[in-house]
Formats: sequence, structure tokens, C-alpha cells
Amino acid sequence: MIEMESSLNVERKRVIPLVITSLICLVLCAISFNLGVILSLTSINSMYWISPVVNHTSQFYVESKIPKLQPQIPAPPAPASLPRFAYFISGTRGDLEKLWRTLQSLYHPWNYYVVHLELGSTLEERLELASRIDKDPIFNKVQNVLMITKANMVTYRGPTMVSNTLHACAILLKTYKHWDWFINLSASDYPLVTQDDLLHVFSGLDRELNFIEHTSRLGWKEAVRAMPLYVDPGLYEDTKSQLFRVFPERQLPTAFKLFTGSAWTILSRPFSEYLIWGWDNLPRTLLMYYSNFVSSSEGYFQTVICNSPEFVSTVVNSDLHYISWDYPANQHPHILNINDTAKMIASDAPFARKFKHNDIVLDKIDAELLGRENGSFTPGGWCSGNPPCSEVGNPTKLIPGPGAERLTRLLARLVYSAEFTEKQCMK
Ligand SMILES: *[C@@H]1O[C@H](CO)[C@@H](O)[C@H](O)[C@H]1NC(C)=O
Ligand SMILES: *[C@@H]1O[C@H](CO)[C@@H](O)[C@H](O)[C@H]1NC(C)=O
Ligand SMILES: *[C@@H]1O[C@H](CO)[C@@H](O)[C@H](O)[C@H]1NC(C)=O
Ligand SMILES: *[C@@H]1O[C@H](CO)[C@@H](O)[C@H](O)[C@H]1NC(C)=O
Repeated sequence: MIEMESSLNVERKRVIPLVITSLICLVLCAISFNLGVILSLTSINSMYWISPVVNHTSQFYVESKIPKLQPQIPAPPAPASLPRFAYFISGTRGDLEKLWRTLQSLYHPWNYYVVHLELGSTLEERLELASRIDKDPIFNKVQNVLMITKANMVTYRGPTMVSNTLHACAILLKTYKHWDWFINLSASDYPLVTQDDLLHVFSGLDRELNFIEHTSRLGWKEAVRAMPLYVDPGLYEDTKSQLFRVFPERQLPTAFKLFTGSAWTILSRPFSEYLIWGWDNLPRTLLMYYSNFVSSSEGYFQTVICNSPEFVSTVVNSDLHYISWDYPANQHPHILNINDTAKMIASDAPFARKFKHNDIVLDKIDAELLGRENGSFTPGGWCSGNPPCSEVGNPTKLIPGPGAERLTRLLARLVYSAEFTEKQCMK
């Protein structure tokens, strides 16, 4: 009995602290609950008081409440008065000499150049191009000509054409801090104005402008381009082969509107950064969409820019090229010859395509439009030394010629006309 009582006493002694601690717990719980109620009440209150002020139209989208993502870049320096062009000139097998002539005709020490012979070219051609760039005394001194030595596989009409162009654009963005426009050309393109003309006329232009010829009237392309699915083996094979078609087809997109146009474009620096850095997902998802699209190089840039409201007002509906299509249109444009000279000049365009290697029309362009001597650079205000252009004088000294007048005339029609805004991604 005694033993039992004493054990009960022990139990009682243990219960008292337990009760006390539970009481403390209860008090604490009550306090925190009250606090919670108070906190939640204030938040309800704030919601209640603020919501009538908040714009209901913008309340549907959480995106509109989040500040726009800005890329982490240092503020760009104030633009120099003279713009710079970043050229990409690309060729395939057998294009070495053509590419070299185009490069020489376009060269200016103020600009930047990336050249590329795709993987379908021979190793000898690529080595020869690399050695010529390496040995050229002007290129060596100015260091503004780069070659993509790790060549890309590029399939004709395949998405690898677009990835190759984006690759060059990325290299130019990474290597050179200050340039204003990215110009994509092929070895069978040729300039109809000097770089002095182009730099002079473009120095008066808004540097946000993008020259992308486009239309949303797909016409026959809807059934032939937008619905079939193609696979480009250049994306995963180490030997060259053609695109092949797979089934079933896909429907037209509903998440964005398709545009099509010329594969030749001049892109502003802000738009190039938007495409390459991809802080908005649209350029990236569209690139994936276009990876199964035939001739995606005639639609990717068009569709990205026209579905990006912040860039629509910067698009000029022209590719600044003279290209002559046969009737009915073939897959390839008409090869320009001496009989096209008058029409070419009358177009006021700064570039033309496509030309056969060393066709006499190129000699005529050299002699009459560029003032270029056999095998030399197109002369400009930068040229000094003897023979001329064997040394770099003042690269910012421009001597614009009649080409600047033609180009000014063209831009007056395109940019400084009432129709300019009516042609921006409208139809
Ligand atoms: C609400 O947003 C719309 C569209 O952004 C705007 O036109 C309107 O003026 C806004 N209203 C208020 C009260 O801010
Ligand atoms: C860029 O230039 C190349 C010429 O090598 C051309 O084939 C291509 O379609 C162009 N455009 C794009 C968007 O890649
Ligand atoms: C240019 O036109 C002339 C006269 O019409 C013709 O004889 C000649 O073959 C043409 N040249 C080319 C390269 O087509
Ligand atoms: C032009 O250059 C080529 C090759 O360098 C040479 O064969 C040709 O004779 C030159 N022509 C003139 C007119 O200098």
C-alpha cells in the first residue's frame, strides 16, 4: 500500500510540471494565432483597399505585374557618329574564290567580317581561306576578319542554314563589342555600292531599324512549306545528305502568326541580341518550331520579329538586295549577267545576287560602281600607301560617291515614306 501511495505521489509530482508547460504552450499558441489573424487581416485589408485602384484590365496577366526582365549588360557606350557593320559571308564547296572576291569588294577597316566555308567544302579550300586571311597584311594589322574554322554542316533549305547564321551572329556579338548591323551574305552576292557609301548613308539612320522583307500571305507556301514536316540530317550526321520528309503533317500554328520572306536580312544590334541571348523564350521556341520547316531561312527572322511587339516598329519591309526571279519563279533566282546591269543599278539596291564566279558583269560593277582594281580592295577614304589601299589611313574618313545617292533614294522610298509603318507586319 505504502509503496503504491508513494508511486502515486511521484506521479502527481510529475503531472504538475506537465500541466504548467502545457499551459505555457497554450498561451504561446493563442498569441501566435492572434498574431496570425492580425497578419492575415491586414493582408485581406490591403487587398481590399488596393484592389479597386488596380487596373482590372492588367490584372488578368501576372506578367504585367512583374517588371520586364532586362539582360545583365553594362550600359552601352553612346553611339559613335559612324555606324559599324558586322558581315557574315558564307559559302559551300567550290566557293573559295567567289567568297574571296566578295570579301575584298566589301572590305573596310571600320567593319567586322566573319567568313565560313561549310563542312561540304574540301579541307584544302578551308585551309587556303584560313591561310589567305592569315597572310593578308591589312587583315593582319586591323584584325577584323575572322574565319569560323570549326566548320558547320549546312544543308540546302534546311534549318542548319539558320543555325549557321545565328552562330556567326553569336561570334560577332561575343568578339566585337561595338557594331550596329549584322549583314548576312553568301559568296554569290556582290555589293553595288562602296562601304563608304553604305557607312555614310546608314550614319543618318535610326540604328534600331531591321531590314527584313516579309509577308503573312503565305499562299502556296501554307500547304507546301508550313504543313509538311522535314528532318535535316545535317543536325546529327557527319556526312552530307538531303532533307527528308516525314508523316503525318502538322496543322498551321495558332500560338503565333507565320510570316515569310527573303532569306537575306540586315539585323539591328538590339534585335540580334534578342535572338541570340534569348531572354524572351519566343526566339528559342520558334527556332525549335522551324527545325522541321523546309526553307526555314525564309521565315524564321520574319516570324520572330512580327510576333515580338517591341520590335515591330523597327522593321523595314525590304532585303536591300537586287534579286531577279524568273517567271514562273524557280527555286533559284536568275543568274545575273551583263544584260542585267541597267536594271540592277536602277533598283538603287546596295547588294545584288546571284553571280557566277568572275562573270564579266562583276568586272563591270568593279569598274563602274566600286572603282575597284583587279584583286584589290574597294577604294575608300581609309586607303593610303602605294599601291593604294595597301595601308590603312584614317578609317573614319569617308568619301561617298554616286552609290550614296542611289542608296539615299532607296531609303527615302522605304523608310522616309508615308507607307513605312503601313508595311510593318501588316499583311
Ligand atoms: C488600364 O489599362 C488600360 C490598358 O493598359 C489603359 O488604357 C487604362 O487607361 C488603364 N486604366 C487605369 C485606370 O489605369
Ligand atoms: C544567310 O545567308 C546564307 C548565305 O550563305 C543564306 O543561305 C541564308 O539563307 C541566309 N539567311 C538566313 C536567315 O540564314
Ligand atoms: C545579252 O543580250 C544580248 C543581246 O540581246 C545577247 O546576244 C546575249 O547573249 C546576252 N548575254 C547573256 C549573257 O545572256
Ligand atoms: C588580274 O589578276 C589576275 C590574277 O591575279 C591576273 O591573271 C590578271 O592578269 C590581272 N588583270 C589585270 C588587268 O591586271
